[in-house]
Amino acid sequence: MIEVGEDGRTWLLSGPTSGYALRLTDRDELLHLHWGPRITLADAEALAAQPLPAERSFESRLDGHEEYPVEGGRRFVRPALSVRGAGVRGSEWRFAEAATEREELRLHFTDAVHRLSITLVYRTRGDVIERFAVLRHDGPADAPALELLRADSATWTLPARDQWRLSQLHGRWAAESRLVRADLTYGEQVIGSRRGHTGHQHLPWVALDAEGATEEHGEVYGCALAWSGSWRICVGRLPDGTVQITGGQGHDDSGQELLAPGAQVVTPVFAGLWSDGGFGGASRAWHAYQRAHVIPDAAEPRPVLYNSWEATRFDISEEQQRTLAGKAAALGVELFVVDDGWFGRRVSDRAGLGDWTPAPDRFPGGLKPLADEVHALGMRFGIWVEPEMVNPDSDLYRAHPDWVQHQPGRERTEFRNQLVLNLAREDVREHLWEQLDALLSSAPIDYVKWDFNRCFSDAGWPGEPYPQRIWNAHVHALYGLLDRLRAAHPAVAFESCSGGGGRVDLGILSRTDQVWTSDNTDPLDRLAVQHGFGQLHPARVMAAWVTDSPNTQLNGRVSTLRFRFVSALAGVLGIGGDLTRWSAEELAEAADWVTLYKEIRPVVQLGDLHRLRPPSEPLSAIQYVHGDETVVLAWLRAQSYGEEPPRLRLKGLDPTAAYVCQDTGKTHRGAVLLHHGLRTGLRGDLDAAVFRFRRV
Ligand code: DGJ
Repeated sequence: MIEVGEDGRTWLLSGPTSGYALRLTDRDELLHLHWGPRITLADAEALAAQPLPAERSFESRLDGHEEYPVEGGRRFVRPALSVRGAGVRGSEWRFAEAATEREELRLHFTDAVHRLSITLVYRTRGDVIERFAVLRHDGPADAPALELLRADSATWTLPARDQWRLSQLHGRWAAESRLVRADLTYGEQVIGSRRGHTGHQHLPWVALDAEGATEEHGEVYGCALAWSGSWRICVGRLPDGTVQITGGQGHDDSGQELLAPGAQVVTPVFAGLWSDGGFGGASRAWHAYQRAHVIPDAAEPRPVLYNSWEATRFDISEEQQRTLAGKAAALGVELFVVDDGWFGRRVSDRAGLGDWTPAPDRFPGGLKPLADEVHALGMRFGIWVEPEMVNPDSDLYRAHPDWVQHQPGRERTEFRNQLVLNLAREDVREHLWEQLDALLSSAPIDYVKWDFNRCFSDAGWPGEPYPQRIWNAHVHALYGLLDRLRAAHPAVAFESCSGGGGRVDLGILSRTDQVWTSDNTDPLDRLAVQHGFGQLHPARVMAAWVTDSPNTQLNGRVSTLRFRFVSALAGVLGIGGDLTRWSAEELAEAADWVTLYKEIRPVVQLGDLHRLRPPSEPLSAIQYVHGDETVVLAWLRAQSYGEEPPRLRLKGLDPTAAYVCQDTGKTHRGAVLLHHGLRTGLRGDLDAAVFRFRRV
């Protein structure tokens, strides 16, 4: 709901529990008034009546109070907008008009010198507010282009508190989305990616709490960016203690755009959430928002998949895939995915990327015979692609060596023996569309795992004048390709992968159905990765595979099938082990776990997540609640002194109701589970259990 003050210059946006207010002064300064619990319009007007601090030498009265600080004028904070025109830098705007439509507020401003129109957009989505900006060059056709040096999506301002704490998700390859919290000090803390993709190093998300929020209690503010290229989020604590968070696409000068007359730039969404339900409440609100507004067909649970990568690497053949498919089908797998190695001369990572036709020696009849067999076995059929890349040893590169990003006269730097295609070029985009469209039409393909296995390092476009639209254009081209493929092949589902979780963000999630969380398939490490991932994203998109023991991908850790399954049951279950080497007993046990997963799947994928104990504890556990059903997943890392692990106090239950445990047949009182807890019976090292309850 959006309310407007009597003079048309105060706005109040309300979610179910939250409120956000802003005010335009008579000097057209757009001031932030409130972000927090719901307030009334009268409260917002009262806040608007409070004067800004008096101006002093060396201090700006605006700093820390503006909704979208631009470069120029009496401001010294990091600007959200920095523009350069012919001989003039910075912006000075006048208010033009406001438009409100249901859940959306648009505020239009113009900068007469640059002939730049600036529209700030606010959209309420439950307690999440989506914000972005639209910048348009309104000058005549012969006017010089404007240089957008920086155009953030939004600046978020927090209320005055004595001390703030910053939570972020940091990592690297095979160790993504690990949660860290630290007090915020004065100055700026900047996270982001200079890599052309979202990156393994940080998820584009921050959370801030001021008064020691816990998992279940306290105020938490969160901001998340919907962008899959380079990005930057800057959390600044100003000299007076005010905290502002500004974020958007691009790092350093990589987001720079040249705006010709008539052209416009629409920034990605930078979403913000306030919750007073602690970190758990904030996560549940983020999850509900993504299921309702971001993820395609989120009410549809995802199937159990099998992926052959860890079992076969590049050594694949149709015969071997048929054998694996037969074994997977017998376990109850619903989607069989052929990973890397099915195309071109792809027998290692040295060749083949770019040549998206089945390798004649390995798939003599193309993919269709295998796809048909997989379908006959009752499963859907999926394949792996990495369309944005090319190996120098490929037919595509030999035909079009100029199609890759590179700087003239410089070395073409390779990672994993591959180069990045310049998707800013229309001929490259068209070629990819034709290749992928033909591929999806060539066989009954239901699923595409879309990978991206190196960062940008030579992001240049020989012959193009500066600033080259290469960084942002790549992401728009990727989004455009995905949108076009989804429209042309609506039954095909897409997985976002970038060497694991290198491209996970709200932008890619609005056009893919799930993501590959991490190449780390060690079931113990995974608990921490999943703990971080779940701070922002729901289980509905979090792919998790059961692989072999000892773990072949990373660390050789030995674990039981039980521990590996219970770890993977927390997300979208997949199996990625070499099934030809699993014993009859292991296959039978795996089939039982798959059956169990299918029973709990709606609760896991669509339910509310409660983190009962974090993976930093010897005993960790999560709980999903969906209607009358609840599922508890518990993991014991190591038992000490033969002591019984702590009881798990469940959440989200009705204290007056009774719950029957489907595993033991025992009935439990809701109040007892909530206040005294559940005994897990876990013991030893790497033990795990699932408890299913139904309200009686
Ligand atoms: C990286 C992915 O994360 C893996 O799952 C696998 O698909 C390989 N790429 C294949 O090259």
